[in-house]
Amino acid sequence: MGYQKIKGTQDFIGERALSLASIRDRLVAGAERFGYLPIMTPLFEATEVFVRGVGEGTDVVTKEMYTFEDKGGRSITLRPEGTAAVVRAVVENKLYALPGLKKYCYFGPMFRYERPQAGRFREFHQFGVEAFGEITPACDVDVIACAWEGLKSLGITDMVLKINTIGDFASREAYSAALREYFTPHEAELCEDCRNRLAKNPLRILDCKVDGDSALVRNAPAIASSLSSEAKSYFAEVKDGLTALGIPFVIDPTLVRGLDYYTGCVFEIQSTHEDALKGLALGGGGKYSGLMKSLGGPDVPGIGYALGIERIMTARELLARPALATPARPLVIASLDPASRTHALVLARDLRAAGFTVELDYSATSLKPQFRLAERLGAQRLIIIGEAERDSATVTLKDLTTGMQETVREADLVKTLREGK
Ligand code: HAM
Repeated sequence: MGYQKIKGTQDFIGERALSLASIRDRLVAGAERFGYLPIMTPLFEATEVFVRGVGEGTDVVTKEMYTFEDKGGRSITLRPEGTAAVVRAVVENKLYALPGLKKYCYFGPMFRYERPQAGRFREFHQFGVEAFGEITPACDVDVIACAWEGLKSLGITDMVLKINTIGDFASREAYSAALREYFTPHEAELCEDCRNRLAKNPLRILDCKVDGDSALVRNAPAIASSLSSEAKSYFAEVKDGLTALGIPFVIDPTLVRGLDYYTGCVFEIQSTHEDALKGLALGGGGKYSGLMKSLGGPDVPGIGYALGIERIMTARELLARPALATPARPLVIASLDPASRTHALVLARDLRAAGFTVELDYSATSLKPQFRLAERLGAQRLIIIGEAERDSATVTLKDLTTGMQETVREADLVKTLREGK
């Protein structure tokens, strides 16, 4: 038996690979209009980048990272997300010292050892943006708008934006204390992970995949009771901004996100499609204030989001959206003898340079199999070259829809094809 792909991974072949690439191109182009420049970081980093960045108490770090020792004895981790890696790059390249807001976008595979199921893979793709500098409510609104517009540009409609604030550092500390006080008498009712979270980071209990839906968690105190007045007015400004942009949102006080670096406003855009994706996040993000400092840089806050490309692809399929890109219908060049095949290669080079997609049969010298190739590829036109054509510097151009055939001077071929004759 041959080899099979690793559980939770996928092959992207032909049209699906084209679709992935077009989604990427559209999101990158959209983000560029918001002022984001592309950034590419390695697929793996020193493990510490994610442990310190994402947070020791998170599921991502405790259970889901692909971590290994390289031959030099270093602990390496395949990136489970992009933010910590981008912040590492910003610190290492001192990009924080550039004037104004620094804005970057990225696309690529991420790796998490999660239980594979609908919309959940072990290798998946994210498109994300991160901005660094002075983050104001208008910036939060613009970042959310970028994610929202990006999804809309891909034809996604059945989605809901959920927002919450987990406050500034002071609010977050006060909230952690309130949660600890609430959950401690009920410790025995919590799962083993949550009992650990109670001491380390009680906010994570709200996000637990086991306890998250229990009445105990649902009745936990809401963040609003612990918010400082600054955090409240910041959140109010974000809500006003979203309203002004006509972006509908729902406030979800239990939304805390699965990564530890967030402070301030957080958001998720979830699918509402009555199917496999229901309730799954198409993307999410928020503001993070202490991450750069914890990775050895200055105390510069950041904000960003990431969208899950596989989930977007599924959502597009469920919504029956037309393909964003289809393979080009090629021109096929048929050659009737070996010398003409060499000639066909030269002609193919020139036509490709002129922007046409060109296919040829590399072995046949009779017409029938080359017709079949043209048929199989959905070609509209067939260019035939034989000895007679070579001698007269012409080609025979056959329209496969009408069956009409004409002799065209090679020198006029590009022009004739462009005119669609
Ligand atoms: P996240 O919520 O962990 O955030 O992931 C963002 C998106 O990636 C999710 O909403 C989902 O669409 C997709 N995703 C996550 N895990 C999987 C999986 N196992 N299979 C398929 N898709 C998945 C982050 O990663 C943050 N770095 C976002 C961010 C950027 N926050 C600030 N800046």
